[in-house]
Amino acid sequence: MTRRAIVAANWKMNGDLALVNTMVSGLANVELQDNVNVVVCPSSPYLSELSAQVKTKQLSAAISIGAQNVSEHKQGAYTGEISTQMLQELSVKFVIIGHSERRSYYHESSTQIAHKVHTALTAGLTPILCIGESEAERAMEQTDTVLAAQLQPVIDEIGIEKFNDVVIAYEPVWAIGTGKTASSEMAQETHQFIRQFLAQADEDVAAKVPLLYGGSVNASNCEELFAQSDIDGGLIGGASLQVEQFKIICSAAKGK
Ligand code: 13P
Repeated sequence: MTRRAIVAANWKMNGDLALVNTMVSGLANVELQDNVNVVVCPSSPYLSELSAQVKTKQLSAAISIGAQNVSEHKQGAYTGEISTQMLQELSVKFVIIGHSERRSYYHESSTQIAHKVHTALTAGLTPILCIGESEAERAMEQTDTVLAAQLQPVIDEIGIEKFNDVVIAYEPVWAIGTGKTASSEMAQETHQFIRQFLAQADEDVAAKVPLLYGGSVNASNCEELFAQSDIDGGLIGGASLQVEQFKIICSAAKGK
């Protein structure tokens, strides 16, 4: 078994302290298959409470903590931003970078995203780098070109070797929050493209990078998606706000 599976909850701007409590209690007894990491990424005001609960209840083996964003700057006059050092103090291990909502609503470019990945890695955080095409781009058969254009600036900035410490999440924009999941065949085909694209730079690294699928994953479709040879888990939005459903998704993942 060479590749771990990861199931990450992206709460986006949802959730509250009560959800932190019920999620921690729920995940305390989740049954996981071999080689699976569960990551919970709440909004930043809840990171501290999540971190405290995971520590007190000695659940750090079961639950890893993730942030939804990080600044590309180390510190300074950047009102509203959060630094890697702040995340580290809260025992955060993962950080979602380049989510399509950040790319489109906050105009984060692939170059800025590459800087963020670099900053996160330098601080020892594992980036969950999100990439994905829009509905129009897929319709125009530009998916591969778009994904390559999102990945290349990151490869150029950090070098392919550093992808040993990166997780990639493929999230087709048209499948996010819409209930329209990519079919497992379509998701597998795209994941295979991403792995092959990375393999052009380094085959060994490409074979080991966990590739997560995101976009309307739920308790009913997770098993089929996770059974695909290049899908190593998921980045879960809406369904991660429901503890029982999220637990089912976590239990379906398996390292490959
Ligand atoms: P949904 O699971 O709600 O479609 O969201 C996916 C996503 O954007 C996770 O980052």
